[in-house]
Amino acid sequence: MVLLLAVLALNLSPFNDIRTMTKHNLDMSPESFETHIADQVFEKIQGIVELSRQEQRFLSGLIRQVKPQRILELGVSSGGSSALILNAIRDTPEAHLYSIDLSQTYHKDRSKKCGFLVEERFPIFLDQWTLNTGKMAAECMDELGGEFDFVFIDTAHVLPGEILDFLMVLPYMKEKAFVVLHDISLSTRGIFHSRSYATTLLHCVVNEPKWLPVDYEGDFPNIGAFRIDNGKTSSYIDDLFRILTIPWGHALNHKTCQVLVKHFLKHYRKDQVELFQKIYAWQRGNNYTIRKPKTLIGKIYREITRRLFLRIDRFVTSFFRQE
Ligand SMILES: C[S@@+](CC[C@H](N)C(=O)[O-])C[C@H]1O[C@@H](n2cnc3c(N)ncnc32)[C@H](O)[C@@H]1O
Repeated sequence: MVLLLAVLALNLSPFNDIRTMTKHNLDMSPESFETHIADQVFEKIQGIVELSRQEQRFLSGLIRQVKPQRILELGVSSGGSSALILNAIRDTPEAHLYSIDLSQTYHKDRSKKCGFLVEERFPIFLDQWTLNTGKMAAECMDELGGEFDFVFIDTAHVLPGEILDFLMVLPYMKEKAFVVLHDISLSTRGIFHSRSYATTLLHCVVNEPKWLPVDYEGDFPNIGAFRIDNGKTSSYIDDLFRILTIPWGHALNHKTCQVLVKHFLKHYRKDQVELFQKIYAWQRGNNYTIRKPKTLIGKIYREITRRLFLRIDRFVTSFFRQE
């Protein structure tokens, strides 16, 4: 009680310390940097992109400040965030965006192609864009060749999700590369998202310099960045593999596991890959891991709940994102 009164008297928010972490090594907070650049595409992606306006400014502002040449994006969906990134590099012809999505279609409307928004509304950006769909990063990285100096990850959010995505791409990142993660506090945003903490775990565990926005909607920042800093990287790889022992929000099939094992064997220690295989086997036998339904009734039930969820999500998003 005394502590609470002291906090109120001093007008201190318990989250002040989080907000002030933002300016670590950058001249100013990314979301306030060249705000007009992100706003150039706002009208054309509004309501479809899955980032709030502040989050768009954070991502665009960071790109404008660090001027990356090779950018990797995991999780394309409509192509809203791709358009935002492409707009941020349009005056740097040597910069290129490589985007990857597991799905070939837009997850909110299966009649549309993944990334449709860029083709439909921003054909002028296409020269600086390479899109790979129907694959995960482990299946594309060698083909893309070279290293990346900026990575934006916005994929499954439930485990093993972003932990595996990051492990897949980390060996292809340059020293000092920036990683931006979206939905780092999604699990605090309603009952439907209670298992969506893969990105939160990733952002917390990496032992690197971090950036968080000063301005954000909701109780906690939902976008964040860190920079791969020389020498520290290897110290938390074991932790990332061990995090995968937390029950998964979606199961992986055997073929996916095999692709990952082959990929990880190229880049990580044998004992780390064996740990991954052991965890995978454990998750398959674990009752808490969510699996794809096998029976017709199970599939119908899943489709109905999926569509219901999408409608609620659309309503909530449009309600809270009106500006
Ligand atoms: C939240 S949406 C991305 C939203 C998009 N970044 C935007 O702001 O408009 C997530 C996307 O990630 C894709 N996805 C899920 N897991 C993935 C993975 N492991 N690798 C690549 N894409 C993945 C899904 O198919 C979906 O299109």
